[in-house]
Amino acid sequence: MVKICCIGAGYVGGPTMAVIAYKCPSVEVVVVDISKPRINAWNSEQLPIYEPGLEDVVKKCRGKNLFFSAEIEKHVAKADIIFVSVNTPTKTQGLGAGKAADLTYWETAARLIADVSKSAKIVVEKSTVPVKTAEAIEKILTHNSKGISFQILSNPEFLAGGTAINDLFNPDRVLIGGRETPDGMKAVKALKDIYAHWVPEERIICTNLWSAELSKLAANAFLAQRISSVNAMSALCEATGADVSEVSNAVGKDTRIGPKFLNSSVGFGGSCFQKDILNLVYICECNGLPQVANYWKQVIKVNDYQKTRFVNRVVSSMFNTIANKKIAILGFSFKKDTGDTRETPAIDVCRGLLRDEAQLSIYDPQVPERQIRDDLSMRKLDWEHPGHASSVSFSAPEQISVVTDAYQATEGAHAICILTEWDEFRFLDFQRIYDSMPNPAYIFDGRNIVDVEKLRKIGFIVYSIGKPLDPWLVDMPAVV
Ligand code: NAD
Ligand code: UDX
Repeated sequence: MVKICCIGAGYVGGPTMAVIAYKCPSVEVVVVDISKPRINAWNSEQLPIYEPGLEDVVKKCRGKNLFFSAEIEKHVAKADIIFVSVNTPTKTQGLGAGKAADLTYWETAARLIADVSKSAKIVVEKSTVPVKTAEAIEKILTHNSKGISFQILSNPEFLAGGTAINDLFNPDRVLIGGRETPDGMKAVKALKDIYAHWVPEERIICTNLWSAELSKLAANAFLAQRISSVNAMSALCEATGADVSEVSNAVGKDTRIGPKFLNSSVGFGGSCFQKDILNLVYICECNGLPQVANYWKQVIKVNDYQKTRFVNRVVSSMFNTIANKKIAILGFSFKKDTGDTRETPAIDVCRGLLRDEAQLSIYDPQVPERQIRDDLSMRKLDWEHPGHASSVSFSAPEQISVVTDAYQATEGAHAICILTEWDEFRFLDFQRIYDSMPNPAYIFDGRNIVDVEKLRKIGFIVYSIGKPLDPWLVDMPAVV
């Protein structure tokens, strides 16, 4: 029986290993983590992360060929294949702060593998890492091991939050990078055999190590660049009377461009896009390519601009004064169908409104109150000036209330900001909501999910990203 151990039981390690266990009943999979509470949660009825379909897969395999454990050393020592799926956040201090990937967790994991291994291992980079990380890992493993053979593979993960199980069941591709030596190719084949249990062979791409590592950063950069491109267009649409949805549709019909990832929004969030582009920028700078670095930096700058633009639109539409006004925030997670709030645009939008002394009433169907409060009070890194004072924390607990349904959040509010595209927000009783709000009643739709005409008929003043401006807003002086 092939034994797999995965170090890191997070958003990637947990679902990925659950699917491998489900699709390969003959393989034993153990997921280990330094966080005991996280492991306990994986072993409980209340899994530590929310993903549609995840619970079902976990329950079918847990205790059979899928195990979650905090006994890291024991399971690493026994495994044939070790996936490393630890977090690789942006460095917050020192050389490369604000851009470079912090590989502390990765290095700790690699040293542990070197220390406890007594037999040959295949070590798989599942985390997203800078190009050439495999070389550094190889050095750590070979310098610390006692003649044991290690083969390093790069097998980046392309799943997206909220659709992780579906993405893992039907991946567009599985990418495996390895050394082009007989042992390297043997290791690639061993990993390919695992995926071949359910992924058609033509979708398993094998490359050299560096191509696999770079392809992951490139894929995220390309995806984020599409969103920043359409968001840049949304500002121009508002200025000219064009409708960004019509523009996206027309542009996306070109088969060379395609229709996906062209939804204008209040900005992209999530744990990957910003972090991975900053990492790419840093690698370009380190390789003497400042022009290439600046090109990719603009993708993040436009994303920051889009969030600021949204806040400015809210404030200027409400006569430049939102102090002590109740504003309902619908949605806090970075996209629908996930409770993940990492880099969610809601954090920046809420902070912007809090700075203008608004009273926020926040509702999200999946994000717990404690998470929202932590996110809004935590120190946020200013990636352009990591040591700058603007990266200090913002704390105003009395300006925030977190509620358990959308009607409670909107009751008596002067304005509603829709920041996540949860399906339930499309089907709210907006007449009921309007009747409970003072006039003028505003809706600022950061996800383009409401029926603008219908809401205007009810009486709302509606702003929807990239759509022709409400007649009420056209004459308002706005700094956007
Ligand atoms: P996460 O923070 O949810 O999980 C990482 C886990 O690793 C944590 O539970 C942490 O306790 C554990 N860990 C850290 N160091 C450890 C060690 N030395 N030993 C044992 N456990 C350790 O992170 P994530 O979202 O799962 O991301 C993991 C990697 O996958 C990152 O590199 C990320 O960029 C990449 N990735 C993430 C996504 C996503 O959607 N979240 C998608 C593709 C790739
Ligand atoms: C992304 C990549 O899609 C995935 O392949 C990679 O493995 C991890 O990073 P994720 O961040 O989980 O996945 O979700 P994704 O669906 O890409 O959305 C990222 C952000 O972009 C969200 O905030 C989403 O709302 C936003 N988005 C997405 C848009 O604003 N417009 C779009 O058209 C698509």
